[in-house]
Amino acid sequence: MKPSLDWRNLGVPVYVVIGLLTVFAAFFIYELLSYDPTATAPAADPVSETAYAERVAALLAEADAANGAVLIETYGCIACHRLGAANNVAPSYEGIAARATERRPPMPAAAYIYESIVNPSAYVVEGYPNAMIQNFATQLSDRELGDIIAYLLTPEAH
Ligand code: HEC
Repeated sequence: MKPSLDWRNLGVPVYVVIGLLTVFAAFFIYELLSYDPTATAPAADPVSETAYAERVAALLAEADAANGAVLIETYGCIACHRLGAANNVAPSYEGIAARATERRPPMPAAAYIYESIVNPSAYVVEGYPNAMIQNFATQLSDRELGDIIAYLLTPEAH
């Protein structure tokens, strides 16, 4: 009598396993190829003179620049944004108020700084990685955000 080990008995589960593995592999490769690190960022306002205008005006209405100077230490911004940082992780804040008007013209400085903080991937400063912390929009209160923007708009920011 022949052994009961017939390929037709084994065949079905083997094909099922191979089939599932193929599907998983294909799905994995598809996900890998379509991965977009910026996909979850909130939609950016178009670059314009009026970008974020209302929001930024409201944030700055009662902002306290002196407190902003304290907050950039509290939140560790200066860990990366440090003048003369040896590893050149991020641009220093020195001269940012003037530079900010030139980053995304005609976007005003305040709007640019606002966007840089809440949606850092919308524009990545040339020569730097897209390494800025992505969730400051949820970490900072409106008051804190306003104070920081106000501070960065002062010529003394550093
Ligand atoms: C982990 C490092 C890191 C931390 C922490 C960090 N940033 Fe940044 N930031 C960057 C990098 C890198 C860039 C430049 C690339 C880019 O444009 O996203 C940048 C860009 C910016 C810019 C635009 C600067 C320019 O010259 O155009 C602003 C404004 C800014 N960050 C504000 C902040 C504030 C405010 C905080 C704290 C609440 C902060 N960053 C914390 C890494 C960091």
